[in-house]
Amino acid sequence: MKIAIVGTGYVGLVSGTCFAESGNQVICVDIDQNKVERLKGGEVVIYEPGLEVLFERNLKGGRLHFTTNLKQAVEASDLIFLALPTPPGEDGSADLSYVLGVAEEIGKILQEHKQYKVVINKSTVPVGTAEKVHAKIAENYSGEYDVVSNPEFLREGVAVDDFMKPDRVVVGTTSAQAKELMEQLYRPFVRQGNPVYFMDERSAEITKYAANSYLATRITFMNELANICEKVGADVEVVRKGMGSDSRIGKRFLFPGIGYGGSCFPKDVQALGKTSLQNGYEFKILNSVMEVNDKQKLVLFEKIKDYYKGDVKGKTIAIWGLAFKPNTDDIREAPSLYIIDALLNAGANLQVFDPEAMENVKEYFNGELENYSGKLSFCTDAYHALDKADCLAILTEWSIFRTPDFAQMKSLLLSPTIFDGRNLYDSQVVASQGFYYNSIGRKLVLSTS
Ligand SMILES: NC(=O)c1ccc[n+]([C@@H]2O[C@H](COP(=O)([O-])OP(=O)(O)OC[C@H]3O[C@@H](n4cnc5c(N)ncnc54)[C@H](O)[C@@H]3O)[C@@H](O)[C@H]2O)c1
Repeated sequence: MKIAIVGTGYVGLVSGTCFAESGNQVICVDIDQNKVERLKGGEVVIYEPGLEVLFERNLKGGRLHFTTNLKQAVEASDLIFLALPTPPGEDGSADLSYVLGVAEEIGKILQEHKQYKVVINKSTVPVGTAEKVHAKIAENYSGEYDVVSNPEFLREGVAVDDFMKPDRVVVGTTSAQAKELMEQLYRPFVRQGNPVYFMDERSAEITKYAANSYLATRITFMNELANICEKVGADVEVVRKGMGSDSRIGKRFLFPGIGYGGSCFPKDVQALGKTSLQNGYEFKILNSVMEVNDKQKLVLFEKIKDYYKGDVKGKTIAIWGLAFKPNTDDIREAPSLYIIDALLNAGANLQVFDPEAMENVKEYFNGELENYSGKLSFCTDAYHALDKADCLAILTEWSIFRTPDFAQMKSLLLSPTIFDGRNLYDSQVVASQGFYYNSIGRKLVLSTS
């Protein structure tokens, strides 16, 4: 099939590459000229495990192309996917200006080209967007076309696997012609028998928000549970196992930590709340989820501050992990950014390390650092970050932090003190190595050596 992907970010690049991998001709469009040039030159511009091999194979095989020219891509394709940003607008609802702006352009192109096309929303968009996109195209084009909702459920860090073997595919359409094309497109991806659910556009749109909001709620429930476990002297890690073994609950997405982040959960919870209000309904649980999550992002900062009796000024703090989760370089809404901001404001000096997200964090704080009283330095590896630091704070659960050399850590730190926002270690093991260890939802452990 001939496919255009408009917006070549985390979703667009993975989708485009995976569609090419199953034999389709794919043209990815982006307005970022520099990104397009780098992609054309064979550079995978994001960190996503497993993407590079597929990208190279399909680029070399002539199935994957990149352009800034929307017209060229639309005219060459039967299916046009929109994988554009839908950031929160000022009032918290999803900003549809990217999606509707491109829809308007597509309408103008189709008016000249006059061929049946299917325009597919892969961006996460509020209920009613398929109708809005349809109407936007109709402003300039009176011929035949369909608008389909096909929300994406891939997870950054395992996006290629998720895309190649999705748990399910959701397609919202009431057009028989579009349904047949979508069925054909996804057939190679569901050979093991995973379902492709066809439904109306509105139900498809809300399914995506429902999934993300439910997962954010589940994490938030665990974070609150962790907070109460600390107060009553229970251990959330064993509680998690005890409750997660119940087949009605399940083991996944029950890990407490320092709040959810990323480019999706925060904005999608907010947007579903907003859609509800706009339709005369207050989705109360989502308000609590957002409120609790905002607090949880600073739980580790509070623990560090308490430990130093309210004054971290002049303390040197090592930080392991900046990405909002492991196996990605994405730092959008990462809890690390909130913690770094709070610590720098309070006058702490930070020595940070992340395997993939350092460049993005440098760019994020570029030009801002002189406004803080503390200093931020980027380190070459995890142990370098510990050198003469007063303590370590762990913010992302990268695998390389899971089995560290505790003796080396102890020799580098000024004091063997760990604040672990991801519960990476067995408390007793860390204590027996001579550390003060403060984690989430577990008893505080003092050195036993
Ligand atoms: N990132 C995820 O894990 C994920 C998962 C599922 C769904 N989504 C949804 O998918 C959508 C895209 O997310 P993302 O993370 O890929 O965003 P992104 O910011 O990584 O990528 C968006 C791309 O669109 C480009 N762009 C902006 N305006 C354009 C225009 N007019 N024409 C062409 N390109 C344009 C940008 O330059 C950028 O490269 C969002 O709605 C998001 O909620 C994201």
